[in-house]
Amino acid sequence: MADEQVARIERDGAIAICVIDSPPVNALGQAVRQALVDAVAQANADAAVDALVIHCAGRTYFAGADVREFGKPPVPPHLPDVVNTIEASAKPVITVIHGSALGGGLEVAMGCHFRLATPAAKMGLPEVTLGIMPGAGGTQRLPRLIGVAKALEMTAHGAPIGAAEAKELGLVDAIVEGDPLQAALEFARTVVADGTQPRRTSERDDKLGDAGNAALFDEFLAKNARKFRGLDAPAAIVALMRKTLTMPFAEAVRLEREGFLALREGPQSKALRHAFFAEREAAKVPGIGKDTPRLKIEKVAVIGAGTMGSGIALAFLQSGFEVILIEVAQAGLDRGVTTIDKTLAKNVAQGRMSEDKAARTRNALTPTLEFEKVAEADLVIEAVFELMEVKQDIFRKLDLHARPDAILATNTSYLDINEIASVTSRPQQVIGLHFFSPANIMKLLEVVRTDKTSDSVLASALDLAKAIRKVAVVARVCYGFIGNRMLSVRRVETEALLLAGASPYDLDRVVEGFGMAMGPCRIGDLAGLDLGWTPENSTGNTVKERLCEMDRRGMKNGAGFYDYVDGKPQESPAVLTMIDAFRAEKGVTPRSFGDEEILQHMLYPMMNEGAKILEEGIALRASDIDVVWLFGYGWPRWTGGPMFLADQIGLPAIVEALERMGPGHEPAALLRRLAAEGSSFVEYDKANGG
Ligand code: 3HC
Repeated sequence: MADEQVARIERDGAIAICVIDSPPVNALGQAVRQALVDAVAQANADAAVDALVIHCAGRTYFAGADVREFGKPPVPPHLPDVVNTIEASAKPVITVIHGSALGGGLEVAMGCHFRLATPAAKMGLPEVTLGIMPGAGGTQRLPRLIGVAKALEMTAHGAPIGAAEAKELGLVDAIVEGDPLQAALEFARTVVADGTQPRRTSERDDKLGDAGNAALFDEFLAKNARKFRGLDAPAAIVALMRKTLTMPFAEAVRLEREGFLALREGPQSKALRHAFFAEREAAKVPGIGKDTPRLKIEKVAVIGAGTMGSGIALAFLQSGFEVILIEVAQAGLDRGVTTIDKTLAKNVAQGRMSEDKAARTRNALTPTLEFEKVAEADLVIEAVFELMEVKQDIFRKLDLHARPDAILATNTSYLDINEIASVTSRPQQVIGLHFFSPANIMKLLEVVRTDKTSDSVLASALDLAKAIRKVAVVARVCYGFIGNRMLSVRRVETEALLLAGASPYDLDRVVEGFGMAMGPCRIGDLAGLDLGWTPENSTGNTVKERLCEMDRRGMKNGAGFYDYVDGKPQESPAVLTMIDAFRAEKGVTPRSFGDEEILQHMLYPMMNEGAKILEEGIALRASDIDVVWLFGYGWPRWTGGPMFLADQIGLPAIVEALERMGPGHEPAALLRRLAAEGSSFVEYDKANGG
């Protein structure tokens, strides 16, 4: 019998309706699968029923298999059997999609004989983003409905499509306005009245013309080589579809299931699932709930129109906020506005924004030299020069001019926000909103709560992050917060390895081979090696400073660790000579480093710093630290983030390696403890309610 908690059977004349109601997202857990099988059996056994409608209550259609079941032994009925049962029904099965039909959800829909969708519905096979392939016939039914090329793209990239495109491709039969269930019933009545027979996707082959077209698969792989780098699932999906689309359906689905199960047990899927849930977990902050009062934020003032300020302004503008951009000098203000205009024009040129929307967005921007305009804002974000006196000066002025209930935020990357807040008469209104460059693109927002930030300000900031489509991670105050504090450790490590004998090019090659978009030296070049450096304050004690002394300031002047020829990095013999001389001057006899040793130095001290951040309460959970690195620094998602990866490597091995690395690498007390207890960061999070 269907579990009453998740499903009910209703009737409308001769149409049976299976209503699935399993919040929050109608995931296809065991009870839901059983309910679907039961509904098909009941409808077929009941002579008074002519057709079955499958409908999901709540905010969405089936969002997919229940990912929380993945770590456990599978319990029947298995999803492929459920889909086959629906498809085999002798009586027509009609379904209607609203919200999202994803993964197993779309597979169920494709097993139904007729599919309808609401105008806002989304459909896709995002399994690849969880490191798996579809496991219930998706790789076989989708190409039968929309053709091989498009199905390959949707399955290997995982991006969903909208209802209009789905209709055009033939994935759905009609788009329905108004109440979805009523529309489905009406459609079902027509099917019955017309005597239309079940139309089974698996029996179709009219769109499989390209199934044996090897070139199509080769070209697809070649075109996406960069995107698929390091990942197991996309290549497995392409290989499976290439091999099976010419096979009998049942055999193909069996092989697909095998591929799905193999990937599901692999390390990448485990890590990608961790990343999925870590992102959602980060939004939960103990003590902050639905009942925490929020402040209404519609108008935002951004102080400083430099790279960061104009990027932050754009992030808000693009999400429909009004923005006041404030500068002290006209030239700086003009530069910021030009940056914003250029980005909007580029969005229009690339078809990502309509001209009309760009014009409306631009109209929502008020550039000004009048600081007093902050009085109009619900939220003020300061993004000026990274110097305590400068920031405190701004906050003193904000205290005079901003509304008493306005949120006062700083975008500082390293400074003590308690100190910044202390110059105001309302420290409870002060918070850190640390954006990552380019602020209109990078997904991460570190939300830094001071000793005095009120719950209401924090809750409002978290809502705000969602409104501008950022992933927020809450941190407490310390030097560099979560991300930059760990990055600083890697910088120190980089200098130490360069001095000891490693080449900057080997460091980058190893770190990029691990999966980061750029190694530490290339990042230094990109950011500018002379950040905070002047000839007067140069100590000449680091390779970085020596490069600045050679006027090698990074990409911006065509020379840093690399020579830049037409913007492309090339190894520089002059840099290697300088590093040699630097070592000699310091009395260091260079030694060679193997790739594994380099990688350990690039990763383990950072993980160790992560453990300190956790034990000091700067981060709420180890998984929050992972989210910071995944969304702010391009950490390879398929490893799950630094702390999850540390668990996979094994904490005792990390402790041992840190001890081997010697002074400056002492393992954090928490790391030692977890290693000694045979525990892990995942376990630590669980024990702490994460
Ligand atoms: N399984 C289990 N839990 C899920 C889930 C799933 N497939 N999808 C979402 N959830 C949970 C979330 O963890 C979250 O739980 P929480 O409230 O306890 O944190 C809750 O549902 C709500 O999710 P979101 O916060 O993400 O809600 P949104 O409204 O922002 O987004 C969504 C909704 C677009 C459906 C989004 O949740 C999503 O993309 N889900 C995953 C879809 C997916 O990847 N499906 C494929 C699964 S694999 C599969 O189907 C294999 C098959 O081929 C055999």
